Amino acid sequence: MNGQVHIHPWEKRWIQFSIVLLVTFMLAVGVSAFAFGFQVPAPERQVDPNTVALEGPFANPGLRELAPGKYEVYILSQIWSFVPNEIRIPAGSTVTFYVTSKDVQHGFLIQGTNINVQVVPGYVSTLTHRFDKPGTYLFVCTEYCGIGHQGMYGRLIVEER
Ligand code: CUA
Repeated sequence: MNGQVHIHPWEKRWIQFSIVLLVTFMLAVGVSAFAFGFQVPAPERQVDPNTVALEGPFANPGLRELAPGKYEVYILSQIWSFVPNEIRIPAGSTVTFYVTSKDVQHGFLIQGTNINVQVVPGYVSTLTHRFDKPGTYLFVCTEYCGIGHQGMYGRLIVEER
């Protein structure tokens, strides 16, 4: 007895294993956020779904150029379409998406990107993505929203510079 705390060897192993797990998860979160650009799609602001289509930016949804190569797009979701359902940008553009719904819950996913967010009435969902590769990217509704759900999609067209 020299006053040291005795830890059973197995217990010590489990403590070490837990620390390794913690460090691994922290690295995974860090790499996905900074290397792969994963974003947490947090609701950006609240809106009134009854009036969102009548006033403010969603009354006139669409693409706006903020600066050369920098865009924002307001997309209104409704049963069973996105407004607008076609967006054209030059390659190399960074686009911030603001999406809301004026009726039921929808989803918004752009194929081939990290953009994938729930669209809940009363909230504006926001994600940003840089489009370097020219082509046509489909965006689709990912939440079952009724009989016309499978027809709820649009196109984002990235044009050659
Ligand atoms: Cu909107 Cu499914």
